[in-house]
Amino acid sequence: MRRFDLFVFAFAIAILSSPVLSDLIISKLDRRIDLTTQIVRATTSLKVENTGSDLVSEVLLTIPDNQANHLAYLKATLNEGKGKSKASASVSLPVEVYHPKDAPPSLTFYSISLPKGLAKGDSLNLVVLAVYTHILEPFPQKISQADIQLLLFQDSAHYLSPYPVKAQTLTVKLPDARTESYTKLENTKLQGSELKYGPYENLPPFSYLPVVVHFENNQPFAVAKELVREIEISHWGNVQITEHYSLVHGGAQSKGEFSRLDYQSRPYVRGASAFRRLVAKLPPRAHSVYYRDEIGNISTSSLWGDSKKTELEIEPRYPMFGGWKTEFTIGYGLPLKDFLFGLDGKRFLNITFGSPMNELVVNTLFVKVVLPEGSKEILASVPFPVKQWQEIKVSHLDVAGRPVVVLEKSNVVPEHNEYFQVYYKFCSLSMFREPLMLVSGFFLLFVAYIIYMRADLSISKSSASYLAKLQWEEVQATVQQLHKIVSRCLSAHDKLEASLPDLSRTGDVQACKATRKSVDSLLKELSKELKPLVAFLQSSPQASQIFPKVEELVAKERDLQERLVAKHTTVVDCYEKKLGGREIENRIASQQQKITALRQEIDDLMEFIDEI
Ligand SMILES: *[C@@H]1O[C@H](CO)[C@@H](O)[C@H](O)[C@H]1NC(C)=O
Ligand SMILES: *[C@@H]1O[C@H](CO)[C@@H](O)[C@H](O)[C@H]1NC(C)=O
Repeated sequence: MRRFDLFVFAFAIAILSSPVLSDLIISKLDRRIDLTTQIVRATTSLKVENTGSDLVSEVLLTIPDNQANHLAYLKATLNEGKGKSKASASVSLPVEVYHPKDAPPSLTFYSISLPKGLAKGDSLNLVVLAVYTHILEPFPQKISQADIQLLLFQDSAHYLSPYPVKAQTLTVKLPDARTESYTKLENTKLQGSELKYGPYENLPPFSYLPVVVHFENNQPFAVAKELVREIEISHWGNVQITEHYSLVHGGAQSKGEFSRLDYQSRPYVRGASAFRRLVAKLPPRAHSVYYRDEIGNISTSSLWGDSKKTELEIEPRYPMFGGWKTEFTIGYGLPLKDFLFGLDGKRFLNITFGSPMNELVVNTLFVKVVLPEGSKEILASVPFPVKQWQEIKVSHLDVAGRPVVVLEKSNVVPEHNEYFQVYYKFCSLSMFREPLMLVSGFFLLFVAYIIYMRADLSISKSSASYLAKLQWEEVQATVQQLHKIVSRCLSAHDKLEASLPDLSRTGDVQACKATRKSVDSLLKELSKELKPLVAFLQSSPQASQIFPKVEELVAKERDLQERLVAKHTTVVDCYEKKLGGREIENRIASQQQKITALRQEIDDLMEFIDEI
């Protein structure tokens, strides 16, 4: 069976020549792997000893690639406080991927930097937490409604290390349920829900002894394929959080028909692997909590809380079986003073990064922090690597839009729920811009009314912000018009493309050429119409943020246009020369790739511009 085909380690047992490997040994090691949820956590406590004479400043870890590919989180802490002293402090240490010379294949190395070198004869205690996702393999892969979910987990009974290990144990914590089978070696014990391997003594570096556990686990395998968390700061006292979930049951796929009757009569037997509810732990003092999907508000949610947290229990409209999907949004408000602070004339938001849902795996997380309009010198500080960029969000009454910091991270687990900060500068006066705009708007209306009644004079729209708003509306209208014209260009492209399959069907070269001619002249006309719009946006200071995107869109559209016409010409020529279909394909293959990529980029830009 493929599944049991364990990853084979072709270790080049060439002794690594790196000096850090030389004289460390692990004198004692205990490893604990928790398999009770969909997220696998391996906690390793190791005592590292320097038996050489050189100072050592790094400790290396090795993880086989088949596990490293699923690694979501890795943290090493140093337990200080010698011997029995209770006042031991733990310090978190920097960990980095490391590329040793002549590394054995199929292994990923990580290097832990020690705060101070480990001298000859000294030892220290490390605790390493590794968190993995999507590493438990459902087996069988497909189950029916009434089946339980069985999973496979593979690892090594011996700790895989570049150093010799004097004494070690492994404990695998299983859910309180059935254990189908497990690899039995010497010193293997299953006690209740704990499977123990070892102790093993005096093993050389890179010892590896594969083990497989096959066990029942009906925990909710809730996976957010995508989660967009929007955190909007209003200086009027509120932080509004909106979270859009696109959720799937990531466990064994369900097969066969779903019988609601069966399920309703005995839900825990007839739907053991399904999950019915999810719990989100919100911060204390969360208010105005809602839970809705595309149909509307979902009432099957309950909320309770104390001074430390607020818990929201939500129930999707249907029980979730393996492979089933659902989309929903939860939203809540938080008091601003709990999350926004001031420092050296700057302000900063300090809030947790990940999803508040229990034991959720997030494949791709976007955290969008929407700052008040007029915020400047924006800087995000996140305790782990993320992709980040800035956007603008424009809602009604905004003049130039709100700056948005977007943070993107893949493979997110609850351990990523650490605090992160967004620093920014903000001039308090601009806080009054919106109300001022409203007030001055009404005031102007009022004045206008009086003037109109009394003197029939034209309205003086002199308020700067009122003018700014008008200008912004003009920009918006122009962008919309531009969007429309580019859409027409795109449908002209489609028409041109559609004429090629027609050609191969009917063989009517003249009709095909005629189409090209008419599309060509339509595109020329549209490009004339675009010119003044682009020029206006270029000259308008209000459009300075979006103009680069507009410019990019127009340039890409023109590029695509030229490539499509060139491709069309090539195909028609080939057809006239009576070349075969395969030959024609070959001639346009590279062109076609660029066309597809360009079209995708244009579609993305169009979507972006549509939201302005
Ligand atoms: C849904 O609930 C929210 C918050 O309670 C409320 O503001 C909104 O009006 C509700 N929407 C519908 C469609 O009932
Ligand atoms: C953010 O808040 C947490 C929890 O209140 C606190 O421990 C941490 O020190 C804060 N971070 C900063 C930079 O203020």
